[in-house]
Amino acid sequence: MKRKLIIDTDCGSDDAMAIAMALNDPSYEILFFTVVSGNVILEQAVQNTLLTIEMAGSYEPPVYAGCRDMLLRDLAFAHETHGKDGMGDRGFAPKRLKVTEGNGVLKMIEALKNSGGDIEIVTLGPLTNIALAFKLDPGALKRVARIAIMGSAGLGAGNVSPLAEFNIWQDAEAAKIVFESGLPLFLVGWDACLDAAMLEEADIRRLRESGPLGRFSVDCNRRLLELNQERFGRPCLDMADPAAMAAALFPDCIDVCDEYFCEVDATPGPGYGAVLVDRYRFSGKKPNARLCSQLKPEKYKEYIFRTLEKRR
Ligand code: RIB
Ligand code: CA
Repeated sequence: MKRKLIIDTDCGSDDAMAIAMALNDPSYEILFFTVVSGNVILEQAVQNTLLTIEMAGSYEPPVYAGCRDMLLRDLAFAHETHGKDGMGDRGFAPKRLKVTEGNGVLKMIEALKNSGGDIEIVTLGPLTNIALAFKLDPGALKRVARIAIMGSAGLGAGNVSPLAEFNIWQDAEAAKIVFESGLPLFLVGWDACLDAAMLEEADIRRLRESGPLGRFSVDCNRRLLELNQERFGRPCLDMADPAAMAAALFPDCIDVCDEYFCEVDATPGPGYGAVLVDRYRFSGKKPNARLCSQLKPEKYKEYIFRTLEKRR
């Protein structure tokens, strides 16, 4: 029996690599995608998701548009990291697939309500769709088996402020609702995709030379490659969503993971968007999330190659 997934995405270039990995993991069946603004505006993220499904060369689940706006905050986008189109500004576009009519938030509620409690959700963007679904029908959302979230700085530093990671920071009010929901949360922090988990030049070359999908998954990350050449003096890829997807679908690659009480700071100020991980249990509160902060690099990269190296 394949495990059932819903993937919620703000499809930028690292989402694309993660989505292609999931579509090529035979242990899972992606029921559908729900899309949210984040890296790019909703409509562009929908097109990028459709493109990625076409490039993945696997089955083609429906793609539903979800929230275009955050609950309160203005959209910031991440064009400097993913390009204006979110896919490296290479002019990529879907050739055939179209978005499916229907609201992603309502589709998520409907699927969970009619499920046997065996559907997992993986989120790769701001938590707006999840928060809205929970507010609209908490009973349905409580039937989710687990929500794996690419979100938080983990046990490290933020990537949009000293403490905050983009997905949480872009809609901290939504994240606060999700973290206080009591739903089974599995967090993969930004720190899980750094250091030894970075894709280095040899990994990038191997992917690019492995076939059309591997080449696409690198080429759409062109902007991030250029940015990292400046930042680190070498071409490397810190792939947050692929790290989260690998930890969610291939737990053999998890190295450090523990449960903590985590809360979101949604107050205006320097801490906005931070996920406070109560590492030393000061709050005395029961843990509400499992947090993966480190992967086993070899296992993680093995999973990426195994799912993306398609020789057609
Ligand atoms: O902070 C990294 C996360 O923000 C990734 O999911 C990236 O795609 C952006 O959504
Ligand atoms: Ca993302």
